[in-house]
Amino acid sequence: MTHSQQGGIEHIMATEARIPVPEAFAQQANVTAEQYREWYRESVESPDTFWDARARDFHWFTPYTQVLDWQPPFARWFVGGETNLSYNALDRHVEAGRGDKRALVWEGEGGDVREYSYAQLLEEVARTAAALTRLGVKKGDRVTIYLPMIPEATISMLACARIGAPHSVVFGGFAAGAVADRLMASGSEFVITADGGWRKGELVPLKPAVDEAARLAAAQGQPVRGVLVVQHAGQNIPMQPGRDHWWHEARGEDTQEAVPVDSEHPLFLLYTSGSTGKPKGILHTTGGYMVNVALTTHAIFDLKDSDLFWCTADVGWITGHSYSTYGPLLLGQSIFMYEGAHNHPDWGRFWDMVERHRITVLYTAPTAIRSFMRHGDETPAQYDLSSLRLLGSVGEPINPQAWHWYRRVIGGDRCPVVDTWWQTETGAVMLTTLPGVHAAEPGTAGVPMFGIVPAILNQQGEELPADEGGFLTIRQPWPSMLRTVYGDDERFRRSYYGEIEGVYFAGDGARRSEDGYVTVLGRVDDVLNVSGHRLSTAEVESALVAHPQVAEAAVVGRPDEMKGESIFAFVLPQEGETPDAAELRAYVSRQLGKVARPDHIVVAPALPKTRSGKIMRRFLRQIAAGRTIEGDTSTLDDPGVLKRLAETPVQ
Ligand code: WTA
Repeated sequence: MTHSQQGGIEHIMATEARIPVPEAFAQQANVTAEQYREWYRESVESPDTFWDARARDFHWFTPYTQVLDWQPPFARWFVGGETNLSYNALDRHVEAGRGDKRALVWEGEGGDVREYSYAQLLEEVARTAAALTRLGVKKGDRVTIYLPMIPEATISMLACARIGAPHSVVFGGFAAGAVADRLMASGSEFVITADGGWRKGELVPLKPAVDEAARLAAAQGQPVRGVLVVQHAGQNIPMQPGRDHWWHEARGEDTQEAVPVDSEHPLFLLYTSGSTGKPKGILHTTGGYMVNVALTTHAIFDLKDSDLFWCTADVGWITGHSYSTYGPLLLGQSIFMYEGAHNHPDWGRFWDMVERHRITVLYTAPTAIRSFMRHGDETPAQYDLSSLRLLGSVGEPINPQAWHWYRRVIGGDRCPVVDTWWQTETGAVMLTTLPGVHAAEPGTAGVPMFGIVPAILNQQGEELPADEGGFLTIRQPWPSMLRTVYGDDERFRRSYYGEIEGVYFAGDGARRSEDGYVTVLGRVDDVLNVSGHRLSTAEVESALVAHPQVAEAAVVGRPDEMKGESIFAFVLPQEGETPDAAELRAYVSRQLGKVARPDHIVVAPALPKTRSGKIMRRFLRQIAAGRTIEGDTSTLDDPGVLKRLAETPVQ
């Protein structure tokens, strides 16, 4: 364990009395208390039987011969089976006579609305898959998707899955440098993008970032061969002949059937931040991901034919993959999708859409909940939110105050609130309360989902007693777990199975109550969680040191009431230089995107280092938080530096 890991479990959150399951909800819940108990026991004691039964809900072109092959840390699920996720999410429902059922309702920031039935969505996906094939995309080729939250994003993901081309969705808020890194790391030669998106009434240019990223990739010997461009923002953008094709021109009337793929065929890569170096390409495969994402959606979000489910997460994040897209479609249920800012044209926008579309289940992030809370109860009170029956939270710890506000003001004291803990790596929710089963404890995620065996361990791998904080680990493999870090099995092993022998190491601290409720305490490594967006300090640091006036940089998180954490950068200038804070912020924005822009910058006279040259972030975190310095400073090369740093103005 590094020092930062030891120092991380410091802010134990207050938790509170439990709120019982509303009786009316329990009576109609998809999963009852008895079923949870039985299924959970079976899923842990006899995982093969349990998961086999769940997998039978889906179509397999070739049946699997073995449920699990576990060669730690490598798992293969539904071995030998052939399936297709696009087939299971679309064709299967249409063939069952549910083609007219609403699949997707989309609203743009400007107020335009589009709706797709399952039959229509299937048609769109099959035509797009045919266009991708014509473009030269083959089974196994990685396709980068860089789109706003528009139906074409959903369609593109499913079209890739249809032909067995793993997608790599890059969040539309990332800038050209981040797109280029991901293009190169995934060896992706095809891109799907748009002429632009809309946010707060302003155009978000996407195609120029793709052009720039393609130029950077080509310079490294990896040209982009084909770009599909959705016409969405009505922009007149340059198109490179031979490479760039308009979506509406490239797609004909012809359609492409779903291609059977091996259960372990890669479904997608999703780049996420680790504690060091470049983002990791988290690899998810087909069969296991499909089965567990569908099961968790069914159990946690309780979806039924009368529901309209709105998971507000962007498709650029894992939540946008598993719950804005795949989970609800695998169940044949209806998704709501919105492109735009949550406060445009005003703070009532979400509630206006809930009222107009009769949204029933809402799943969003604490950072959004806190910003609504700050703008008062009056705005939501102006809308009819009576259609809502269940609320969810994801992405970061939710403070009890925000939890209560969410339940009372948005949920009318009637809706259960589920706080779901999981990660890009886990593919699906791991810990939560089930809305019809478990009393909810504000500030505490809850109990394990089917097949998940959490353990709170110390550095030696010993299980800790109840209520003691330690490392959150998972003992058994589960179907939607990451299979590897793309192209780097060693990094996979080291990052997730190397820290403590034999268990999955999540990178979070946690404690567990006597009766099994797990409270997640936050990251124990150098991963930041800013407004629910995951960033590594190393990424921001390398963007900063690329600036000609910067010699060294150290980035830490600072607790922030609204964002959870804000980005605090200590910057050591090159000899004789005085970098300007505003310029540094703009510089990081241009490379990585606005999400990575440092909130606070200290142009530092020196950084606190050990004699061996390691930066002591523990102290920097304390300075950033405005706390008094605690801990042994004697290992520092120059302990006086801490005082000088604390006195330097923050910009
Ligand atoms: C944090 C997002 C507390 C955690 C699905 C985790 C949470 C990281 C919660 C993963 C929660 C996510 N309570 N912390 N309910 N949900 N986290 O990969 O630190 O973007 O390790 O996946 O977010 O972020 P990621």
